Amino acid sequence: MAVAHNFLPDQYDRDLDLKINHNYLLEQFSDKEEVLAKISDLVSRCDFTLGREVDDFEENICSLLGAKYAVGVGSGTDALFLSLKALGVGNGDEVITTPYTFYATIGAIVTAGARPVFVDIGEDYNMDPERIEDVVTERTKVILPVHWAGLPCDMQRIRTIAKKHNLNIVEDACHAILARRHGTYAGRFGDTGCFSLHPLKNLNVWGDGGYLVTDSEDIYQRMLLLRNHGLVGRDECAEFAYNSRLDTLQAIVANHLLNKLEDITESRIANSHYFDNQLAGLDEITLPSRPKNVQQVYHLYVVQAQRRNELKNYLQSFGIDAKIHYPVPMHLQPAARKFNYSRGDFPMAERICQTVISLPVHEFITREQQDYTVTKIKDFYAG
Ligand SMILES: Cc1ncc(COP(=O)(O)O)c(C=O)c1O
Repeated sequence: MAVAHNFLPDQYDRDLDLKINHNYLLEQFSDKEEVLAKISDLVSRCDFTLGREVDDFEENICSLLGAKYAVGVGSGTDALFLSLKALGVGNGDEVITTPYTFYATIGAIVTAGARPVFVDIGEDYNMDPERIEDVVTERTKVILPVHWAGLPCDMQRIRTIAKKHNLNIVEDACHAILARRHGTYAGRFGDTGCFSLHPLKNLNVWGDGGYLVTDSEDIYQRMLLLRNHGLVGRDECAEFAYNSRLDTLQAIVANHLLNKLEDITESRIANSHYFDNQLAGLDEITLPSRPKNVQQVYHLYVVQAQRRNELKNYLQSFGIDAKIHYPVPMHLQPAARKFNYSRGDFPMAERICQTVISLPVHEFITREQQDYTVTKIKDFYAG
């Protein structure tokens, strides 16, 4: 097993050498003076933890998503973990989820004390609802769907199953702010909807942050306790708990970015539709299914490609930051060995991990850059 080290600085340096990047933060914060002025005001107020901008952010999210309550926390991972804790999930419980996700989804389940129980994905890369009932047991407590790449899962179906078996739903909507299915926002179908503010998310901050939404007064009250040491007041602790507060500084950045979120989302959608049109005719590229009545927000633009690894290296050699999200499904990770899954258990997720490639579609990508990317993909397959 490799020794853990901080690989991020090297990765950021390498990414910055590319011409068409996934990482667009320099452009995104070109108007940083406005934010810095607000942070300067914060420094003179010293309102660093759970300051008034955190309240503002939570109110903003409630009105944006039509939720009764929003709670700012330390990260998207914590939003998931604390949701599970608030629902009473613990040792011996099972949580049904997808093997095709980012590590954090599974980390939240496992650190809450529960066992992740996987079901395979469908042609939209999301968990296949038709497989959920096969794995429900008396230990199942929660269904945890992930709206991968900003495409909302079939939540109507998942809700019906959850209701039938008396299960809670925690949505991993970390990719999916403003995504909709049949008019309802991702994050608004479950008991909680969990979001990340990581710098590369559609709504992002200058470090880590997250939030969740819920309509349940009970869950809301539990979350307020869990994120802040279980304190009901300075000198009274109702339960020993965690420290996972959204920093006031990050709430300032998030409030600033919220004003741009509609535009960011529209650009991502337009850029992705452009790629869909340009790539649709290529035999070597397979687009995921794009269900009707859905607004996908394309946190990632992911397609399947023949000779995927070669294509990725080829595009990178021309300065195009093609990435793989992600090459190994969760059930085949070293961390999952104790759950006794094997290769072949989830054929679709395994195939997708071997064939997917992501292309940059953020709001600063130009049509010229997209055309260049498409030309290089065509050159690769023609060559
Ligand atoms: C699907 C998914 N879930 C959860 C998370 C966790 O979010 P965070 O990095 O804010 O902890 C991420 C983050 O990248 C993610 O992609």
